[in-house]
Amino acid sequence: MSIHGPADVTRVGIRDIRQRKGGAPLVCLTAYTAPMAELLDPFCDILLVGDSVGMVVHGLPSTVGVTLDMMVLHGAAVMRGSRRAMVVVDMPFGSCEGAPETAFSNAVRILQETGAQGVKIECAPAVVGNVRYLVDRGVPVMGHVGLRPQSVLAEGGFRARGREEQERQQVLSEMRGSVEAGVFALVVEGVAESLASEITAQCPVPTIGIGASAACDGQILVTEDMLGLFERSPKFVRRYGDLRGLVASAVERYAIDVRSRRFPGSGETYFASRRRPGSALADIPAG
Ligand code: KIV
Repeated sequence: MSIHGPADVTRVGIRDIRQRKGGAPLVCLTAYTAPMAELLDPFCDILLVGDSVGMVVHGLPSTVGVTLDMMVLHGAAVMRGSRRAMVVVDMPFGSCEGAPETAFSNAVRILQETGAQGVKIECAPAVVGNVRYLVDRGVPVMGHVGLRPQSVLAEGGFRARGREEQERQQVLSEMRGSVEAGVFALVVEGVAESLASEITAQCPVPTIGIGASAACDGQILVTEDMLGLFERSPKFVRRYGDLRGLVASAVERYAIDVRSRRFPGSGETYFASRRRPGSALADIPAG
């Protein structure tokens, strides 16, 4: 066992992902913790430690407040909980926009301290130069175009991108910039089906859609959205569970049992052993 998880792992690798262009759709989900990673791992090609962790887990209003330390902490946890899926960690806002050397040392920190196989970068035009710099130095980068949540302050909110011609051209140019910079896959978020289709047709690496129709080489969702943890979720989310209802009903039953002293019962209680006083053996539960 290494600090990054089981040592004898054979994970999905960059070449496996590239080969899926136009093939069987890539199954991707976000993960932020070790136990959730363990549950998702058998079914997923890629586990993304998204900076959405800031909103989903830490209650932040957007991903802008997410730090490198947070990404490293959650990235390492997901690596410890998984053994076969590729793990990719988001580079948070501000970690890639400055000098290329700084972007490189931030990416290296993520790879070295988590053991993840790649980073994801939101490919605003001003950032693609740094993406190239990282790729040239051996950092596997997954790009992210279309709706780029880290631009929420500049954009004044979250909204689908590329519905008008000028913006459509901008998103296509983000895709070309990312591909020229050497990304191994591309997340396409919040675009109309026709644009997703055009991007996927022109992009030589797999496209992974979120709110970008079925016209992509794979799909990703925020796990807690698709498990139904939140009251509301975006239009493009399909709810495969009702975690919110499940948690509420379990906690309600627990509260009733505690208040009525039905919990804990004798099967959940430790009793003193009948051994001689001074025996080193600990008490054992009944049953
Ligand atoms: O941060 C995130 O979770 C993401 C995915 C939803 C693509 O960027």
